[in-house]
Amino acid sequence: MLTSKALLAAARRPGLRRVVTGTPVTRRVVDRFVAGETLPEVLDVVTTLTGQGLAVTLDHLGEDVTDRREAQRTRDAYLAALDGLAPLQLGRRAEVSVKLSAFGQALPVGGDDVALQLVRPVVEAASALGTTVTLDMEESRTVDSTLGVLAELRRDHPGTGAVLQAMLHRTEDDARTLATPGSRVRLVKGAYREPAGVAHQEKAAVDAAYARCLQTLVRGDGYPMAGTHDPALIARFLELVTETGRTPDSYEFQLLYGIRPDEQTRLAAAGHTVRAYVPYGADWYGYFMRRLAERPANLQFFLRSLATR
Ligand code: FDA
Repeated sequence: MLTSKALLAAARRPGLRRVVTGTPVTRRVVDRFVAGETLPEVLDVVTTLTGQGLAVTLDHLGEDVTDRREAQRTRDAYLAALDGLAPLQLGRRAEVSVKLSAFGQALPVGGDDVALQLVRPVVEAASALGTTVTLDMEESRTVDSTLGVLAELRRDHPGTGAVLQAMLHRTEDDARTLATPGSRVRLVKGAYREPAGVAHQEKAAVDAAYARCLQTLVRGDGYPMAGTHDPALIARFLELVTETGRTPDSYEFQLLYGIRPDEQTRLAAAGHTVRAYVPYGADWYGYFMRRLAERPANLQFFLRSLATR
């Protein structure tokens, strides 16, 4: 049986990428987690989800670009997405999430500067539409660089959002640092394979760290965004926002497109802001493999569909 560690390792292997993406049946399974390959397709999904009372954050799939031209294409794809969102007039109900590795962060020379320079116009275009950008968090070795870019962007665009991963030992400190007025922070468990030196390895330890960081963020002065499908942590978030007297415009739930959709609309109908993270684009392999690694049921669904092709 494939383990989640093996799947996470596979998410970074180009050889396996060719095998998985070349299997026609994979497409059906991918459709459950990815909202289409093109901008018109994802804009249709945005219309449907916002019609159900949800907010969205769009993720143009792609990561780990290896040259500047590819990074420029990422910038252009996000600018096109924001152009596409403009006529829908959704304001903050539609924002975008970016991975800095797709903006050149990992380039051998000056990656941080390239990423900052290329992501800035996206943040400016989002501001012009009355919305924001959130910087996804990737492998632990990129956290300092990503938080550095965030600090630069926040000078002019203080609503730029951060993501913190509860599995990392450093995150409790980062949560305290970022729990300041106007600071938007999405707390997630963390989707990458990390060594014991930097990250909790057991699910129970990650969940406990998540609960502690959540408390810090909700009791702090920022804008907490709980990025989880976990019923126990969703319940804890609700307790904390009630206990602290937060109003529904001062926090939000975030869940991935295609995961617990009924819970997403249930929470929205109860008056909470719920944002679906909506990935789209042709480069879905890394994202898809992380979803398979997360949950045996997702992997079984994939394997069953291979067996019944
Ligand atoms: P976990 O996977 O531990 O599941 C806990 C419980 O949730 C399960 O026991 C089950 O009850 C329920 N559940 C989970 N999946 C389900 C399903 N498919 N169907 C039914 N029930 C299900 N990571 C990262 O490293 N960087 C990032 O920037 C982001 N960004 C991000 C944005 C958003 C909006 C979300 C929701 C998540 C991310 N992540 C992320 C991914 C995150 O780190 C994590 O890998 C996943 O959210 C899975 O963790 P859960 O919190 O859902 O709990």
